[in-house]
Amino acid sequence: MVPSQFVTYEVAKKLFDLNVISRATFLSFKKEFAKVMKGLRKEATTTVDWDAVRDMFDFDDYADGVPINAANLCPSFHAVQEHVNQLGIDMNKDVSIQKRTSVFATIIDDARALIAQQLNISTAELAFMRNATEANNIINNGLDFNAGEEVVIWSENHGSNNRAWAIRQQRNPNIKIITVDLTGATTDQEVINRFVAQVKPGVTRVVTFSEISNESGLRIPSKDLCSEVHAVDPNVHVHVDGAQGWGVLEHDLQDMGCDSYAASAHKWFLGPKEAGILYMKAARITNFWPNNFGYDAKIILPEELYTDARRFETLGQRNDPTLMGLLYTAEILGTIRFTEIDQRIQFLVQKLIDGLLAMGYTLTTPTDPARRHGVVVVHFDNPDEGVALYNWLYKEHRIGVASTGGLRICPHIYNTEHHIDRLLAAIQEYNSLPAGDKSSKKTATRKK
Ligand SMILES: Cc1ncc(COP(=O)(O)O)c(C=O)c1O
Repeated sequence: MVPSQFVTYEVAKKLFDLNVISRATFLSFKKEFAKVMKGLRKEATTTVDWDAVRDMFDFDDYADGVPINAANLCPSFHAVQEHVNQLGIDMNKDVSIQKRTSVFATIIDDARALIAQQLNISTAELAFMRNATEANNIINNGLDFNAGEEVVIWSENHGSNNRAWAIRQQRNPNIKIITVDLTGATTDQEVINRFVAQVKPGVTRVVTFSEISNESGLRIPSKDLCSEVHAVDPNVHVHVDGAQGWGVLEHDLQDMGCDSYAASAHKWFLGPKEAGILYMKAARITNFWPNNFGYDAKIILPEELYTDARRFETLGQRNDPTLMGLLYTAEILGTIRFTEIDQRIQFLVQKLIDGLLAMGYTLTTPTDPARRHGVVVVHFDNPDEGVALYNWLYKEHRIGVASTGGLRICPHIYNTEHHIDRLLAAIQEYNSLPAGDKSSKKTATRKK
């Protein structure tokens, strides 16, 4: 392996040359990096070694908890976490401005360039956020509205793109929020029709939806929906919340045709915690006010608001190691390849769905692979039963799922076929327990 083919290696080398990281940190990074990249694929044409991928994560199958809850939060790759930690410790040894500015300049530009390339957008259209919540709130806080103008949302949008609009409306009671309900829409065309029926030329300002629902797992035909909304009125801003899609789908955001796209790094992207992205099409950027104005990521206070995506990124002091974690993770995922990640998740999900259906469960999530991805929601007539099973799975088997919408199960590339078998066997065991042993006590649960 030639490490200099990889941007992360080049950046780490630069940090070492700048005396930002110690020799020990650099050498330990270099060794681990070579191991990671070599383990993923020996040649560009070989298939991915999924067992090697599983081994890149810290959790033990029995001593720890098995996460099957990627829609909520994911573990990071061990190599990335270790390097982020070491970088933080090295930085603490000298927090002088000279060091910090050169670090920011080095890392953020390279992280932005790689992630923008992966999304097929320009670097001027990508801002690094703290999470999808922050990115969504730029959309719902940032526009000036005229009285009577309308926003079309989906009833299953996450709170930061749903309830947040109701909060915005408290500030501007003259705007109208129209909520689309997709219950019973069994085809992509029906989904599109229900949205498009609400779009009024010259009146609708924003249409916004989750690429994949965190509540039902339904995958929206984002490209066709963007194009059909724009066919009614090209000025409508279409915002896509990609929190359940970024990191596991091959994305070409230009081709999708959305005007903006938000996502968190700590979900399917497997990146550092408290990081995320906001993409905004160049022509739309100056339509929005940022939520914050302060120093940018290179510790420069701009005279005026930026007219590129950095407009949304003047957030003051950032955590430089987090940016390095973004870069490193993007490079690992890109090396595995997003199409292969997508297929691996589809494979694990299919196994899971087959097992659940064989046990007689009903799914809220469509079974058609084209209309779902990694989020699988099992229906319970009595939601308390879903909560009871969710609690029991963790208590008895240390399997982490969620109780959102019933029982939500979301496998990722750190999961194995054995994890799915183990989960299905555990559910089988639960079903054979006498009723009195199934704790149905409702425990407070968070909806996410
Ligand atoms: C669709 C969607 N958008 C936004 C979010 C918010 O993510 P975060 O808490 O990382 O900002 C979530 C969280 O589950 C989500 O599912």
